[in-house]
Amino acid sequence: MLIDPCNRRLNYLRISVTDRCNLRCAYCIPLGEDRRLDHAEILRYEEILRLVRIGVGLGIEKVRITGGEPLVRRGLPALLAAIHRLPGIRDLSLTTNGLLLEEHLDALVAAGLRRVNVSLDTLKRERYRDLTGVDALGRVLAAVDAALAAGLQPVKINVVALRGVNEDELIDLARLSLARPLHVRFIEFMPIGASRLAGREPLLVPEIRRRLSPLGDLVPVPPGAMDGPAQRFRLPGAAGEIGFIPAISHHFCSRCNRLRLTAAGRLRPCLLSDREEDLKGPLRSGATDGELAAIFLAAARHKPSDHNLAAGEPAHVCCQMRSIGG
Ligand code: 5AD
Ligand code: SF4
Repeated sequence: MLIDPCNRRLNYLRISVTDRCNLRCAYCIPLGEDRRLDHAEILRYEEILRLVRIGVGLGIEKVRITGGEPLVRRGLPALLAAIHRLPGIRDLSLTTNGLLLEEHLDALVAAGLRRVNVSLDTLKRERYRDLTGVDALGRVLAAVDAALAAGLQPVKINVVALRGVNEDELIDLARLSLARPLHVRFIEFMPIGASRLAGREPLLVPEIRRRLSPLGDLVPVPPGAMDGPAQRFRLPGAAGEIGFIPAISHHFCSRCNRLRLTAAGRLRPCLLSDREEDLKGPLRSGATDGELAAIFLAAARHKPSDHNLAAGEPAHVCCQMRSIGG
């Protein structure tokens, strides 16, 4: 079983299926050289599936597909369907920027997807275009509607709280949870890599909560068994929820149950530490399932107990979020 030295049981694997993306979010795209992985460097679906099967044998129960933008990779629903069919998988989800979601929705639902996280940091069309480089707010909002109509539950909206970018919209974004069962989650910006927004003063959860106070008291929602680090609340009378992910202001490392499989086929025990174990090399040179399982166990052994990322201080992480998978 994947149990780390702090006795955390690692049952959650996040898989970045590509480092490519059809947006260029200001907080994600690196300044300077922006190297992409070559096709051959990226794990093939059958390789990913074999690794997930090995992970399931070691206690992985929860899988999230991320990117880059996972839906730019062709044939993704088939990978989802194959993961969904693995006995032992109890939760399968997808994080997407929503641009291609509507067109793939039927295939994703048929593949077994039951819930989805859509990244959306602003409700203003021009601002969305400035932040992401693409005039696509309408498409994302349509995809959110379509996901709700298709019965995905919950549909979560990931909002990275950014000083000087969307701090004036937090109330409007939170209001999305009122009429429909959307879960709006405010994520503290993590200064990872050298992006255009790397140096700015952080906007942390206590301040976000203060800014939402005109909406009324936040009613705590009891945590579920498969919950991640979000602190869950409901606005009075709301159909949906508000969540906070205090990545900086309140370390949730002690409850972290994740491993990450990068697009390049490396196992990363911690988002905020560059230590990774290579799986792709051994996988492609004929390693047995047992040998690959041993690499999973080594990654678990090397999961750091904590990170010491302070607000406003860039993490000494050389990878970009995009290839690690967020
Ligand atoms: N800090 C916090 N969240 C981030 N995301 C991407 N980069 C960062 C960052 N530096 C978010 C995306 C997406 C999720 C996978 O992570 O907006 O919703
Ligand atoms: Fe693409 Fe997500 Fe990075 Fe935005 S944050 S550029 S949507 S990978």
